[in-house]
Amino acid sequence: MIPGKKKPLVVVTRKLPDSTETRMRELFDTRLNLDDTPMTPAQLAEAVRTADILVPTVSDEITAELLNQPDARLKLIANFGNGVDNIDVAAAIARGIMVTNTPKVLTEDTADMTMALILAVPRRIIDGAAALQAGQFTGWTPTWMLGRRIYGKRLGIIGMGRIGQALARRAHAFGLQIHYHNRRPVAPQIEEELGATYWDSLDQMLARMDFISVNCPHTPATFHLLSARRLKLIRKDAYIINTARGEIIDEATLTRMLEDGEIAGAALDVFENEPAVNPKLVRLAKAGKVVLLPHMGSATIEGRVEMGEKVMINIRTFLDGHRPPDRVLPGVA
Ligand code: 8YV
Repeated sequence: MIPGKKKPLVVVTRKLPDSTETRMRELFDTRLNLDDTPMTPAQLAEAVRTADILVPTVSDEITAELLNQPDARLKLIANFGNGVDNIDVAAAIARGIMVTNTPKVLTEDTADMTMALILAVPRRIIDGAAALQAGQFTGWTPTWMLGRRIYGKRLGIIGMGRIGQALARRAHAFGLQIHYHNRRPVAPQIEEELGATYWDSLDQMLARMDFISVNCPHTPATFHLLSARRLKLIRKDAYIINTARGEIIDEATLTRMLEDGEIAGAALDVFENEPAVNPKLVRLAKAGKVVLLPHMGSATIEGRVEMGEKVMINIRTFLDGHRPPDRVLPGVA
């Protein structure tokens, strides 16, 4: 920093880990959100006009309208998150605003949670714990709390990027057969290591899987990738797991199919109208048909601190005139 030179104004939209906030205050002129109340569109618009750098999260919608304000000052959007579907990246880039994200540091945590959800529904983990807490455990019986076996079943992973592959490694160790659909096959040595089968046709894969896990980003091309038509291809005894984005599944159709017993169960960490959750899904959860979590796939202390590190590295390199390591390229988001 040049002595006497004004530090750039960084606006952070949500409460971040204490260590991240302390360091950001040392490095920049940082405006924090200590009480963690989500910012309104008007507050975000003001931030775009007055800040040099904005640090939003998945809960802030950074629209073209916000970015195209004539007196916008913003130069960098350093997203605290991997997915950038909360940001109109094309509008930002067109306006000369760079966008960065926080890849890699969420991979293992999200894969752990996805594996946990694969186990949770068929083995009735939440259901069993709730029954015990309600005083319903009166002694072991041969036919109580029976679920379905996981070992030896087929898992179809939609999106074989970093998280998809990390999930595949875990699932392979649990004895699941790994299948995947991706824009292109992964390297042959990875397929061999995981015993993974590539399906060019998503439709054909869906019709044959016992478990389907959504692990692709949400982009215009993947909105409702699991459409009503595709959901109907899925076997009646299959389970769907989603730790990616709610918008990738036609949630209304999935809910109806779960209610009608056309799909065995689902485990969802993300929702189409987040943070709103369809009350019908909540009813299904109470009936033990689905497991619902509040978008906590990557929620570990270590992960959040590492995300904060990435945000600061991206901001620092940008301010030093270098290319930030996690620049989001046009057309990727
Ligand atoms: C993050 C996520 O916690 O990074 C992502 O894409 O989905 C989450 O796990 C969230 O995005 C923070 O902005």
